[in-house]
Parts: sequence; structure tokens; C-alpha cells
Amino acid sequence: MGSVNSSEQEHGSSNDDTSSSIIGPRDRILLVEDFQDTVRIIKRLLEKNGYEVATALTIAQAKEIIKSMVPDAIVLDINLPDGSGLDFLQDLRTIHPDTPVIMLTAYTEIENAIRSLQQGVDDFIPKPFDNSYLVHSIGKAVEKRRLKERLRTSEKFRAIAELAAGVAHDFNNLLHTMSTHIYLLKKNSDLDAEIHQRLDALKTAVDDATVIIRRLNSMGKTEDTDRTVFELSSLITDMLLMTKPKWHYQPRKNGRNIDLVTRLGKNIYIRANTAEIREVFTNLVFNAVEAMPTGGTLTIEAARQGDKALCVFRDTGMGIPPEIIDRIFDPFFTTKGSGSGLGLSISFAIIEKHGGQMTVKSTPGKGTAFYINLPLAEEFT
Ligand SMILES: Nc1ncnc2c1ncn2[C@@H]1O[C@H](COP(=O)(O)OP(=O)(O)O)[C@@H](O)[C@H]1O
Ligand SMILES: [Mg+2]
Repeated sequence: MGSVNSSEQEHGSSNDDTSSSIIGPRDRILLVEDFQDTVRIIKRLLEKNGYEVATALTIAQAKEIIKSMVPDAIVLDINLPDGSGLDFLQDLRTIHPDTPVIMLTAYTEIENAIRSLQQGVDDFIPKPFDNSYLVHSIGKAVEKRRLKERLRTSEKFRAIAELAAGVAHDFNNLLHTMSTHIYLLKKNSDLDAEIHQRLDALKTAVDDATVIIRRLNSMGKTEDTDRTVFELSSLITDMLLMTKPKWHYQPRKNGRNIDLVTRLGKNIYIRANTAEIREVFTNLVFNAVEAMPTGGTLTIEAARQGDKALCVFRDTGMGIPPEIIDRIFDPFFTTKGSGSGLGLSISFAIIEKHGGQMTVKSTPGKGTAFYINLPLAEEFT
């Protein structure tokens, strides 16, 4: 694949690499434990098993960490220098009700163990702990949370999509009526210039609303017949050329620089609606650029993983605060003054409809990564 940016190296680097060194979203574990040696051992063990690990030696530190991080699971000691792990548990439940918690405790603290089980702790591991049991327990807890979350998101999504399609249908008719009357009024040549101007403004607003409604409507559609087999990396390259004004020319005009890094594996074929997948990628690129108001790096990767195609869109932007991350896929949810809040909800719908999955990992102040997997076209698996 040719480098999209090769003729303009001074304004951004592009680097193509056909190796499949892509990594999927790593689950994040928060380890709250005050004994340094135990921290070191568990951290190393979990990292070796593919987890990202944040550590806290005190409850105060743990509270600080969960302000900017949504852990996929927490490993929690009961006896901590500034209180009991059980107190932290109560706080945690008000912010992250579903985060699985695995308690570490000595056998002698059997009462605490019972209390922790009563507070909805997922597992309880006696110290000294067994490495493989700890890893097994975390794996199980993370998987359970993922399934629960997926179920909840898709249920919520189905309800919203149905509502959206209903609203879209009614509004479409109303907008059509408005449009017709504007047209008829404008045909009347006796009107003065100011009224014509106002009718034009009205027409623009109605047209914009029609576009929004059309997008909403597409969200409710569960199947489409317009699918073809295409190669993913060329679709991404085409999309990057089309969106170059957004990620390159406009930022540069405003004195900021966005570096583009692509690692696109070859021969990744999927069967999908090209226009829709292109829309998803375009939304992700736009969001990434909008999240980097002072410039940064946009990294796009694609690779085969088993019978799936995996793509990652990663930016070094402002990140997403934990308290809103559950809502970013909701229709009309936006933190931008002029945003529609439809980009991610439509993208999510498109990926689900194609039998894929879309997830996000973000660290405020550091950046965000959106992960998408899609089934490979059968004849190419
Ligand atoms: N790459 C990103 N970095 C930080 N925040 C993001 C990113 N992508 C999406 N968001 C958040 O998710 C919200 C919803 O995104 P989206 O559905 O595309 O709507 P819009 O871009 O119109 O706001 C955004 O307003 C923003 O708060
Ligand atoms: Mg957007």
C-alpha cells in the first residue's frame, strides 16, 4: 500500500507496516495492595497474562485512580494502611456498580471474607495465593463483566434504534410537508427579498433535519442487501485520502499538526456494505481529530486475528472521562457545542449489524482507542 502522506513527510509521518503486530484491547486491572512484594509479584503475573495493571498502595490512591480509569476488574486487599478494603468497596459500587472485585485476604480474616462475599465480591482468594487460581479468577470475572455489558448495550441499543426508526418515520413526513410549503411560498414572486432570505434559511434547516432523520432511520435497519467483498486496507487508504482535509489540511491551516501512522495488514477481506463501513471509519477519524485540538498522533491499524478482521483507531487526544464513557454510544450524546452526537451510535449500529463488535478504551489526558472487529468473508477465512 502506498503511504497516504508520503509526499508531505514534513507535516506528518506515515509509516506502513504489513506485519500483524496489532494488539486488541487489553483489559485493565486495578490492584489495591499495600505489601510491595505482593504488588510486584501480582503485577508481573498479570502483565505476563496480557493485562494492563494499575496499582494503589492505599484506599486514597485507589479512589484517585478510579476517577480517571474504568477498571475491568479490581484485586483488593482487605487490610490497607488507611482503612478496610470493604469501605472502598462501598465507594466503588456507587461509581462502578458492575466492576468485578476479587478480594485478597488471609485465612484468619474469615469474618471479613464473609462480609466481602455479602457485598457482592466476585471471588475471594486466600493468602498466600495460588498464581494460576488468581489468573483464572480474574479471567472469569472479566469475561462475565464483558458478557453482561454486551447484553446491556445491545438491549439498550435495540430499544433506542426502534424508537429512532419510529420517530424518523413521523418526522420524515412532517419535514416533507414543510419542504413542500416552503417551495410553494418561494414560487410566489410578489414576496420581498427579506422573506425570500428567511425562506431560504428555513429550507436549509429543513434539509439539515432531513439528513439527521435519514441517519437516525438507518440506525434502526437491521439488514441490508448491499454487501460486497472488499479488502479492508484499501478501504482505509481511500477513506484517509477522502478525509485528508479534516485530518491534515484544516489542522495545518490552524497551526496544529496531526501525525498519521498506519499499520495495515494486507489481504483482509470482509463482506460488508462499503459505504457504511467507510462511514464508521470516517466518524472515528473525525472524532480523533476533534479530540486533539493541539495536534497529536492518529494511529490506524488493521490485521487478521483468527476468523476476524481487527481494526484500531487510536489518538493521543484528551481522552474520555470515566463518568461519561458509558454514554458515548448513545444517540445525541455529545460533549461538543456543534456535535450531533450521532457518529458513534450510528457506527455502533453498523458494526453490530455486520456481526462485529466495537469497544473503546480511554485514558483522560492520554488518548482513546476504538477497537472494531468484523467477521472475515467466509471464502477468505
Ligand atoms: N476519540 C475521542 N476522544 C475523546 N472523546 C471522544 C472521542 N470519540 C468520541 N468521543 C466522545 O463521544 C461523544 C460522542 O461522539 P459522536 O457520537 O461521534 O458525536 P459528536 O462527535 O457529534 O459529539 C463526543 O462528543 C465525545 O465526547
Ligand atoms: Mg463524532
